[in-house]
Parts: sequence; C-alpha cells; structure tokens
Amino acid sequence: MPATSIDIYDEIEALKVEKDATILAHYYQDGEIQELADFTGDSLKLARAATTVDTGTIVFCGVHFMAETAKMLNPEKRVLLPDLQAGCSLADSCPAPLLKRRQDALRAAGRHFQTVTYINSSAAVKAISDWIVTSGNAEEIVRKIPEDVEILFAPDRHLGSYLEEVTGRKMILWEGACMVHEVFSVTDLLKIKRRKPEAKTIAHPECPVNIREHADYIGGTEAMIRFVEGFAEPTEFIVATEANMLWQLQHAVPRHTYLPAPGITCACNLCPHMARNTLEKLRDCLKTGEPEIQWQPEFERAGEVLRRSLLK
Ligand code: 13P
Ligand code: SF4
Repeated sequence: MPATSIDIYDEIEALKVEKDATILAHYYQDGEIQELADFTGDSLKLARAATTVDTGTIVFCGVHFMAETAKMLNPEKRVLLPDLQAGCSLADSCPAPLLKRRQDALRAAGRHFQTVTYINSSAAVKAISDWIVTSGNAEEIVRKIPEDVEILFAPDRHLGSYLEEVTGRKMILWEGACMVHEVFSVTDLLKIKRRKPEAKTIAHPECPVNIREHADYIGGTEAMIRFVEGFAEPTEFIVATEANMLWQLQHAVPRHTYLPAPGITCACNLCPHMARNTLEKLRDCLKTGEPEIQWQPEFERAGEVLRRSLLK
C-alpha cells in the first residue's frame, strides 16, 4: 500500500476518536472505505445500526437517502455525508409531487390502496407513503397488506415485478429503475455461464427480469452473503449487483471465487453516486463537520413511517 494511503487511514482513525464519530458504510462503497467502517451493511442493517450508535456523530458512507434515513431514525445525532451530491437514480425517478398526483388520481378513481415505497427515495416521498421497504424486508411487508387493499409500489419497477412474482400480488408499479442494475448484459452473462457451467449466479432484485430469470438465487446484498455462506465447498459465483459488493463477499466468505456479471458498456458495474465518496472526502468531513444532513420538516412524518416499517 502506498505511504499516502497508510497516512490517510491513520488520520481517519485518529479523527474518528477525536470527533466522537462512528462510520457506517454500505456494501457498494469502495473496499478501502468499507475496511475503515465501524458498521458495514445493506440498507436495512445500516438503518438499524444508525439507531444504536453511541457517538455524537455518524458519518454515513453511502448515498443521500441513506444518510437522511439515519438522521430520521436518530435525530439527536449529527449525520455527515462525505459528498452531499451522492444521489440515486431510483430516488430521482420519483419526485414527491408526481407520486402525490398519482395517489390523488387513484383515489379519485375510487381505488383503495396503500403506498409501499422502496427506501431508495427522498424524505418527501417517504412522508406520503404507508410503508418503507428495503430489499431485506420487502416481501414480509407486502405479505402483511390485506388482500383487499391494492398496492402502489414505488419507485423500482424491477423490485416491484420481483415482489409480484414471489408474493403473487399484482401491484401498481412506478416506472423507476436503478441505473446500475438495469444495464447488465444478458448476452455476456450467458457467455460467462457457458464458460463456467458450475458457477452459481446471484442477482439483486433490482435487476430486470431478463437477468433474474438466469439467476440461481435472487436477494439483496445482505441475503447474498447469507446465501454464499451456505456453500461449504469453494464455489464460483457470478454476481449481478454493484461491483463493490464483490469486495464484501470476498472479505466475508473468502473460500469462494466471485466474478462480476458484465455490464453493457463495461466489464463491471459501479454506482457513480456511491463512488462520489472517497477517503479524502471522508477525512475532510470528519475534520470540518460538513456536509451535514440538516433536519427538514418532512423528516417528522417520514421518520414515523420508517420506524413503523423497519424497527418493529
Ligand atoms: P441493499 O444493499 O439494501 O440490497 O440495497 C441495494 C442498493 O441499491 C442500495 O442503493
Ligand atoms: Fe441508487 Fe442504484 Fe446507486 Fe443503489 S446502486 S444508490 S439504487 S443508483
């Protein structure tokens, strides 16, 4: 490792203590950030971890909606996000006024429904939702909703169609998608599968059905770790999710070999929003206490929906 990297690691460790901070990192962060984190996890595990932090500051290495979620679930804490511009294509695909218009139109048409929203959404969208789900609890929440109530599912149409498959519930789907999971190449995936007939393919439910239908297992990032842990013998896995997940899989279950499912335009798929957080920005935000997630009026109602959905 170059000397500068060692220095910045030491600097961050020292700042963490000096500033009374805990680092939470999503599995889609660069491996060197995951290595420094006090907690790594999927969206659900990190949201829950945010409620247990005992330092005054949380540094959230992930994207904006994740840091907002941490703030809503633990309002007393100062929550920092190394790069405030770290957004999410799914969250952007569903602006609150458009969702509200859709809800109003459905109500005006006499439809009786509940809005189930993926956590990859803004606080304003969460505030007008009935339930918030992650890849880790979506199926459980959908199954809780009485059969005589329709479900408006936003914003990920692929996760929505996956939930329709596993629960047998037809839903009204918002047309959003994740820019990373939408661009896996089926042709190239099939090429690798032909070359490696023994390999197991694991895919995130944010992938479109043409990728999911070739998967041996479909699950969110935390569920992927549990799945590969179940293989006692060294096994090859083709992984259809954001490419930094391979670092976590390798770290958590090193006996296996992990190959990235190829994207249409490149060999692997990295989220450009997640990639905005760097070691330098992590160090700088610890130093300066900025950028900070500021409390917004809609956090109140959104926080209630989050607590009811994720913490009970
Ligand atoms: P999970 O890690 O909760 O499965 O979420 C994936 C994702 O796309 C986060 O942005
Ligand atoms: Fe959003 Fe997709 Fe990036 Fe996750 S991987 S933050 S869903 S754009």
